Amino acid sequence: MSAGRPFLYLSHADVVAAGVLDAARCVDVCEEVFGLLASGDYLMGGPGKNSHGLGLVFPASSPFPGMPLAGPDRRFVAMPAYVGGRFDVCGNKWYGSNPANPGRGLPRSVLTLTLNDKDTGEPLCLMSANAVSAARTGAIPALASRCLAPGSRVLAVIGCGVVNRAVVAAVMTQQPALEHVVLHDVDADASELMAAWVRDTYGVRADTAPTADACVAGADLVSVAASRRTPLEIASGSFADGATVLLSGPMASDDAFWCDSRVVYDHVPLHQEYVREAAAAPDRGAAYDALIGGPLYRLIDAGRVPPLEGSVDLGSLLSGRVPRPVDPDARTVVVACGMAVFDVALGLDLYTTAVERGLGRALDLWGDELPPTAADLRPTRS
Ligand SMILES: NC(=O)c1ccc[n+]([C@@H]2O[C@H](COP(=O)([O-])OP(=O)(O)OC[C@H]3O[C@@H](n4cnc5c(N)ncnc54)[C@H](O)[C@@H]3O)[C@@H](O)[C@H]2O)c1
Repeated sequence: MSAGRPFLYLSHADVVAAGVLDAARCVDVCEEVFGLLASGDYLMGGPGKNSHGLGLVFPASSPFPGMPLAGPDRRFVAMPAYVGGRFDVCGNKWYGSNPANPGRGLPRSVLTLTLNDKDTGEPLCLMSANAVSAARTGAIPALASRCLAPGSRVLAVIGCGVVNRAVVAAVMTQQPALEHVVLHDVDADASELMAAWVRDTYGVRADTAPTADACVAGADLVSVAASRRTPLEIASGSFADGATVLLSGPMASDDAFWCDSRVVYDHVPLHQEYVREAAAAPDRGAAYDALIGGPLYRLIDAGRVPPLEGSVDLGSLLSGRVPRPVDPDARTVVVACGMAVFDVALGLDLYTTAVERGLGRALDLWGDELPPTAADLRPTRS
């Protein structure tokens, strides 16, 4: 118990029962969090309070047979945050990603989220966070699309995994005129499967495309969320005039793609922190290579793209501090890299519902005893 609140374990089934698949609700929670980001009522990791998270850096080789080695999409990352407003809670998302997981019948990335009382540090909840993370990741491009490309009719989907399913679910709540979804994945079965899901679930036309370039041609909205298994490159000339390209995962293109687009970041201070961290890393270029915004940061360093300072982000657009752009022929690129504030806020929302509905399993941190003191923790001699 923390200040009268139970400590719960929520399995994936509990998180679903608490409403994580209600995409409209997840979008609303994320919009609320953008308001807190814009006002400053939040903390993320590090002294600059804006770090995406702290990752384990696996070596290319190791004398220790058990140590994980570097590879595409192999990582462990801890993502702590405090979220203010009605949430007023601390939490940490912790995940490991391994592209070999699907061969073991597991998702590529396995995520858990812990919520803690902000004052005492006592845990409120340990929950399965795969669905939470996907839902909040999908909500951001959906909000961006409402803001930047209302009335879109054609959505191109690059990468048919967990994240883009959540993107489609969330975009459907914000784009009532959407009538056609075109999908591409290097794994043709994945795109066929997802096309069938789109048709069955939303009753809109859904087709697959053999290449990423063919997929994006003619789309008002493009959602990119491919894993790093196979490098993804799309030529700037392949996009329709005025397309809004929503990047939740990495993508390479020619310089014209970045230099000739209007760029909207999810949260400018997050990207400033990425650049600071890359500058402090042993190899700045390698650090950029690992980041969705890496190609932009390179062009900013070269003075070919406007600096981050003064750039537009979703918090300032959604809160109305910055007017929404109006030029319909300009291509827009939205770079959304993921922030723990969304996981923590959505996690608290689901925890609150779980408490109300009696979901989950109560956990007992201290047992029947009072919390241990230093004297209780003196080592015993054997
Ligand atoms: N921005 C965020 O907040 C955020 C959050 C979670 C994940 N992600 C990123 O989103 C991406 C997708 O994550 P996921 O959990 O859906 O992964 P996933 O493994 O479930 O699915 C990824 C899909 O991408 C496909 N793919 C790989 N390379 C491709 C290519 N070159 N062209 C087309 N398809 C390709 C794979 O075959 C797979 O079907 C990853 O890059 C991940 O790091 C971003």
